[in-house]
Amino acid sequence: MERTLVLVKPDGVQRGLIGEVISRFERRGLRLVAGKFVRVSQSLAEIHYAEHNGKPFYDGLIAYITSAPVMAMVWEGPNAVAAVRQTVGSTKPIESAPGTIRHDFALEVGRNLIHASDKPETGEREVTLWFKVEELVDWNRAVDAWVFEK
Ligand code: RTP
Ligand code: MG
Repeated sequence: MERTLVLVKPDGVQRGLIGEVISRFERRGLRLVAGKFVRVSQSLAEIHYAEHNGKPFYDGLIAYITSAPVMAMVWEGPNAVAAVRQTVGSTKPIESAPGTIRHDFALEVGRNLIHASDKPETGEREVTLWFKVEELVDWNRAVDAWVFEK
């Protein structure tokens, strides 16, 4: 089953939106695999956002993600990466579709509330970066057969 990393970023935590985010993924049918509330270190932030090193917004992005705790989670399901990105909305909240998290709760790209892995390979790499193997919980939900076709 495909897995994806989700972070409720510092603004989402400060604004009390952890529950709202979890609720949306639960309602979508995705299955929670792992979760922890963490203060992001400088080194973890730099590895996580390495692809953006050198871009004009990089320093602000690192300052933002390390400014307060984040809620880190792993969610799984068929096409979990694409499903979660769809529920999250576009990077710029002003371009996000109505009904998405970024549309419904954010206005600025530098305060866009949430991170989600952008490709299945990124999801695998980010899950490994943020979680130890023993923190990932394999389980069957009672409703799985009514959400997952296979
Ligand atoms: P994320 O990685 O956080 O899930 O966001 P994303 O894939 O939608 O967007 P990405 O291009 O990976 O950018 C990472 C984060 O950097 C900030 N950003 N600021 N000022 C800007 O033009 C700008 N562009 C990106 C955002 O916080 C974005 O989520
Ligand atoms: Mg990204």
